[in-house]
Amino acid sequence: MSFINFIKPSVRALETYAVKGKPLQPGLIKLNQNENPFDIPERIKKEIFAAFTSSSWNRYPETFPVALLGALASFTQHSVDGIIAGNGSNELMYTILMATVTKGTKVLIPQPSFFLYEKAARVFDGEIISVFMNGDFSFPTQKIIDAALREKPSVIVLVSPNSPTGQSMSVSDVEEILKLNSALVIVDEAYIEFSDKPSVQSLLNRYDNLIVLRTFSKAFSMAGLRIGYLLTNPELCSELLKPKIPFTVNNFSAATAMTLMKHSDVVNERIALIKKQKTVMWNALRAMNFVETFPSDSNFFIFRTPHEAGTLFQKLFDRNVLVRDVSSYPMMERTLRVNVGTEEENSIFLSTLQTLLRG
Ligand SMILES: Cc1ncc(COP(=O)(O)O)c(C=O)c1O
Repeated sequence: MSFINFIKPSVRALETYAVKGKPLQPGLIKLNQNENPFDIPERIKKEIFAAFTSSSWNRYPETFPVALLGALASFTQHSVDGIIAGNGSNELMYTILMATVTKGTKVLIPQPSFFLYEKAARVFDGEIISVFMNGDFSFPTQKIIDAALREKPSVIVLVSPNSPTGQSMSVSDVEEILKLNSALVIVDEAYIEFSDKPSVQSLLNRYDNLIVLRTFSKAFSMAGLRIGYLLTNPELCSELLKPKIPFTVNNFSAATAMTLMKHSDVVNERIALIKKQKTVMWNALRAMNFVETFPSDSNFFIFRTPHEAGTLFQKLFDRNVLVRDVSSYPMMERTLRVNVGTEEENSIFLSTLQTLLRG
């Protein structure tokens, strides 16, 4: 018998995750992964290295990172026994779904959404209940409520602001869904720091079926170091800790996250710069002929052109401008996604796109 037969059918049906890109190199305009264009300042990197060189590298980190959890509790003003940190929020998505999804468990996901929820739910043999966004990519709250009442999912995933579309669900709409009290509701706030709309964190006091997921990969410039965390109530937290892989938060990444929380002025300065650049980019995109734009509460935009997305993506790629071809997501034909970079990167992207659309 071939070894392939030992792999679960639900896994064999998946595809390996791949982002079409190029190695980092001077001149590359990299706007395809919603990263922060600003690296951590040199002086802060030195501070982190100094603390780290005096630590013991031969010892395991704590099973769960006590000092980081304490710092997160002060930073978020949330009770420490309701926080879990992981090696990026991707890890915590798997942790939550590992704890909740088994064969046939229904997971409701408004589509298009961040791909990993559907993928992880499928790994655990869950059933995906898809509800499609409105035509303008706003959240279809009533349709989500109707589907929740009809299908009775165990888990509802709300990515807000949503990737790849960029729009948020209001706190009051999230509350309507929580009130059904019929499912665990994950609200992924990976991009919340770039939004002018409030977090749903305030609802944690009133709803024990809510899990808020956050990351240091975006606003905190730590995509390469991998720290994410979730906020929920202590009882649910202690259940989610049971299947979690221990030791996934390494000492270096934990120290970096703690240092950045101390330097939140620097982080906030960069967020302000990105938000300012976003307005410039939005106005320029909206003014372009043949470009259909959609509002975004995040650090990225989607835009639709008359061109086939793969072809336009490739033309930008050939000119060293990396964006994301999101056209394979439902409702996203002829659509690309671009994140806000530095002022110079944005202007190169905009002029390259303009030239290609004219040609
Ligand atoms: C909605 C959303 N959640 C989570 C993540 C990943 O976060 P992390 O880097 O913390 O694993 C991303 C990354 O692109 C994202 O778009």
